[in-house]
Amino acid sequence: MRKVIFDTDPGVDDAMALGFLCRRPELELIGVTTVHGNADIETVTRNALHLKDRFGFAAPVAQGSGVTLLNRQGSPATHVHGRNALGDIDVPEPVATLDGRRGHRMMIDLVRAHPHAVTIVAVGPLTNLARALDKDPEIARLVQGVVVMGGAFGAHGHTGNVSPVAEANVANDPEAADAVFTAPWPVTIVGLDVTQQAVMDAAYLDRLRDQGGETGRFLHAVSRNYRSFHQKSRRLDGIFAHDSLAVICAMAPELFTLRHGPVRVVCGGLASGQTIQKPAESPFPIGAWDPHPSQSVAVDVDVAAALRLYAETFVTPDRR
Ligand code: RIB
Ligand code: CA
Repeated sequence: MRKVIFDTDPGVDDAMALGFLCRRPELELIGVTTVHGNADIETVTRNALHLKDRFGFAAPVAQGSGVTLLNRQGSPATHVHGRNALGDIDVPEPVATLDGRRGHRMMIDLVRAHPHAVTIVAVGPLTNLARALDKDPEIARLVQGVVVMGGAFGAHGHTGNVSPVAEANVANDPEAADAVFTAPWPVTIVGLDVTQQAVMDAAYLDRLRDQGGETGRFLHAVSRNYRSFHQKSRRLDGIFAHDSLAVICAMAPELFTLRHGPVRVVCGGLASGQTIQKPAESPFPIGAWDPHPSQSVAVDVDVAAALRLYAETFVTPDRR
């Protein structure tokens, strides 16, 4: 089993990804850290505790950063995820309580407690990971790996969702993303290049509702408003399950085609949040990318296999 720390800003697709992660026998959830992003830190943390009640995982939940690495306020996406960031479904007061540590501190402690055995799956802005690296750079050599949902590199024409050239998680804290992508740990970046290829359409979501038991009904309900955002903004009758693709990549990397090379992030200005890889063996002269380690960018995915893996986790054949 792969030990996983889930760094998240729940978030509709975060909740769908966490529900999947908890069900997978290949993955052992050892910690959840929250971060500003889809909503303010209090809301996303309350949601994470609600999901702990709902999915019944034992892993501790620690509250992470409510501001960016440069202490700026992020820009919550209530128009996408709803005012309560869980599709405005009813979210009762959580029973679960917080771990007393700050998110980045718990991340450091867990990585040090399980050297070379922990994968950090980060599906929100990368502030907590950047803070953890700053406090304890050695963790870069102690993790098994890092999988990030974020960025957009132009594969299949996908270049951004909060601007023509930037994806939300990276754009919400570009300095943190640049610190994470240039650190000496192995990062696999699951960006819009592949997450916008994998659409959970109406029939797919209805099947989760009808054949996925209580959790399937929850996944359908929590994504209802998220679906109407996709319909209005992209005339898409379905949803991009961004964060689930990162979890799928952590457990089934063979479904993804990876391109290798150092990655940098534009910080500030018109293109702030743009992610740019200098592919290995590319003909460019030495520049801002070359002092940094090569990372892996997902440029393609077996969509049918990934969506099948997600659905079969909830829909059992005998359920009619
Ligand atoms: O751009 C998509 C990402 O931003 C997803 O992680 C979504 O939850 C939001 O955080
Ligand atoms: Ca997210």
